[in-house]
Amino acid sequence: METTYVMIKPDGVQRGLIGEIIGRFEQKGLKLVGLKSIIPSEEIARSHYAVHSERPFFPGLIKFVTSGPVVCMAWAGKDAINVARNLIGPTNGREAPPGTIRGDYGMDIGYNMIHGSDAPDTAEFELGLWFSEGLMDWDLTISRWFYE
Ligand code: RTP
Ligand code: MG
Repeated sequence: METTYVMIKPDGVQRGLIGEIIGRFEQKGLKLVGLKSIIPSEEIARSHYAVHSERPFFPGLIKFVTSGPVVCMAWAGKDAINVARNLIGPTNGREAPPGTIRGDYGMDIGYNMIHGSDAPDTAEFELGLWFSEGLMDWDLTISRWFYE
């Protein structure tokens, strides 16, 4: 079992896609072990995107991510990191295939509505960063109908 950090960005919140996006993760069979909505501080946004700090789009990215509420989520399941990335789709919505969140709703690289951790080490870092209070430990009783 793996846990991944997923975040609906301010454009997804503004466009009223919170319910739609959360529903896709629920229906897929992942288990929600963390959920909250906050307006990110510049400090947390800079830490989250530190790997991109030298890129030309970094200042705009930080301004965007701190511009309003985001929805922070932790989803658990087998191969949860890859499963979530596959639900989300490639970075640029114009190239993302239909059926993915970015493919169904996005038209740009910057405004791509959602973030998902890309590897086990980044998931661990991001979960610790955004959920320093810890995650929920609970039994999703329907799980036995998702895993053979
Ligand atoms: P994310 O980290 O948000 O899940 O997205 P990702 O892995 O698909 O893309 P990544 O390469 O990690 O880029 C992080 C975010 O930076 C913005 N971006 N803008 N204008 C640009 O050329 C550009 N490139 C990246 C996007 O918001 C992207 O999600
Ligand atoms: Mg990334």
